[in-house]
Amino acid sequence: MSVLRTNGAADAAAALAAGRLAILPTETVYGLGSRADDPRAIARVYAAKGRPADHPLIVHVASADALDAWAVDIPDYARALAKACWPGPLSLILRRSPKVLDAVTGGQDTVALRVPGHPCTLDVIRQVGDLVGDPHVGIAAPSANRFGRVSPTTADHAVEELDDLLQGDDVALDCGPARVGVESTIVDCTGRRPAIVRPGQVDADAVAAITGLELVMPSRVRAPGTLASHYSPSASVVLSTAEDLALAMPDRATTGVLALAEVPTPDGFVRLSAPQDAEEYARVLYAALREADALGLDAVLAVPPPAEGIGTAVADRLTRAATGS
Ligand code: TXA
Ligand code: MG
Repeated sequence: MSVLRTNGAADAAAALAAGRLAILPTETVYGLGSRADDPRAIARVYAAKGRPADHPLIVHVASADALDAWAVDIPDYARALAKACWPGPLSLILRRSPKVLDAVTGGQDTVALRVPGHPCTLDVIRQVGDLVGDPHVGIAAPSANRFGRVSPTTADHAVEELDDLLQGDDVALDCGPARVGVESTIVDCTGRRPAIVRPGQVDADAVAAITGLELVMPSRVRAPGTLASHYSPSASVVLSTAEDLALAMPDRATTGVLALAEVPTPDGFVRLSAPQDAEEYARVLYAALREADALGLDAVLAVPPPAEGIGTAVADRLTRAATGS
């Protein structure tokens, strides 16, 4: 069974409002959306991804006005983050309001909320809100990949991942490639000070500057999706430095290289991508890992960008991809 491919936000909104699933573009990666107030639709999301039931989903809302519908005991610093970064690649973990379903939170007493920085998806959420008569409607959406695999940054990649598990009346909304390329920064806002539980484009310096607070280490909450091993292609990913790469010999039949453009490709390796900077590295990362599989490569030697700004998020994802190998 194949999903309906569309460029129209109205098609996705109609499907979601009716309790069906929609592959949705966001600025970070493509998501697999369902109404956050529909347990049956949410169950289908978990089934399609093959995701364990205790791995909670992020609820996407149209604006920060929806915060108080979904969360309680919201600290001022969380509101400051929402004001500064939304719409954008930032998810906030907050105490859940009574309306939040257990199915969304994996039974935890917290909920992750985000206003995505993508005009298509904002349009979809607003239209769903109009259709169901709730301006604060939430769309639960994990990344549109099978559990443990590489997140999709295009509609094609999302459909490749999930098509045979979706139904003919589910929808895939194509609004072009994702602009950021790695998932949102997740900030735990359930304590007196913020903690980053997943790095993303909004980096630790930005969170500290916006909140005026020193960050704490992320020990309070369980973010089950942040497993040591994740984001893994079939090819094994091996982390390297530019120096080690220069001396490397391709000991396997087909080895790919992923590194900033300034790092040369040694003889005998297949260059997967040569991004100019960390922002471009983030944008091409997941497509490059998919390309490695499409080319049938055995391994990828990856030199992470410097661990600053979004480079921290790229290094984090590469480390998890390498751990899964
Ligand atoms: O950029 C993104 O955040 C993308 C796009 C589609 O919005 N979504 C995404 O969702 O990455 P997902 O499900 O692949 O990752 C969500 C992460 C998981 O690691 C999950 O454990 C964590 O968020 N999470 C969600 N709700 C949580 C909660 N209440 N407490 C702790 N962690 C939570
Ligand atoms: Mg994911």
